[in-house]
Amino acid sequence: IARTAIVSAMQEELAAVLALAGDLEVHEHAGRRFHRGELQGEPVVLVLCGIGKVAAATTATLLAERHGADRLVFTGVAGGLGEGVCIGDAVLATELVQHDMDARPLFPRYEVPLTGRSHFPACATLNAELAQATRTVLDRPAHWGDEAIALGVRTPRLHHGLVLSGDRFVSTREESAALRTALPAALAVEMEGAALAQVCHDLGLPFAVLRTISDRADDTAHLDFGRFIQAVAAQASAAIIDTWLKA
Ligand code: ADE
Repeated sequence: IARTAIVSAMQEELAAVLALAGDLEVHEHAGRRFHRGELQGEPVVLVLCGIGKVAAATTATLLAERHGADRLVFTGVAGGLGEGVCIGDAVLATELVQHDMDARPLFPRYEVPLTGRSHFPACATLNAELAQATRTVLDRPAHWGDEAIALGVRTPRLHHGLVLSGDRFVSTREESAALRTALPAALAVEMEGAALAQVCHDLGLPFAVLRTISDRADDTAHLDFGRFIQAVAAQASAAIIDTWLKA
């Protein structure tokens, strides 16, 4: 049967989503645990992705080919690149680019060779639904907790736009500045979304990538990342997914 796949980047996030679901069947395969069952009455399959583009591509392929996933939603954290994209904000990818793809001079920079494209669009319908759920959750400040407030997380905003993916944790000002110069529309950088996008494009499956900003991809990114995951990321994505499926 057709199922919604929820792909989490982090164990903390998956645990928070699993806690909302009832009894789930666990299918172990390829070093992953695929949790099948229902969430808010919807057939779902929940899985921890692993980190990086290959992990994301493998996960997306297995979800579609073995677990009947007919739409995929990725939830995780990202480094903020765009001006005003702050820690605690949410970003819905309208399109994704692999920022480390470079087959010049054979193909233009960022173009995935022989596909004729560099930008892979997410599903507008899923994005509209997720945007509504995200706003509902972000507008509930209690949700963010004391620890988030102590970290200086202000009322978070939702952004829509370009998200970059590559097999690098971007952790210097120089590197994030270079990404902003090369791809000025970029709102955030992470390590999986564009790979999932390419697989879903090949398979003709709708997908969305929803990220909360854990750091600014700068010299303190590694510290902010660690603190943020504990404080905010897990609860935020679980609440958004739950609100979305309930609607
Ligand atoms: N995910 C969260 N923060 C990130 C960063 N700075 N670079 C890459 N992926 C990330």
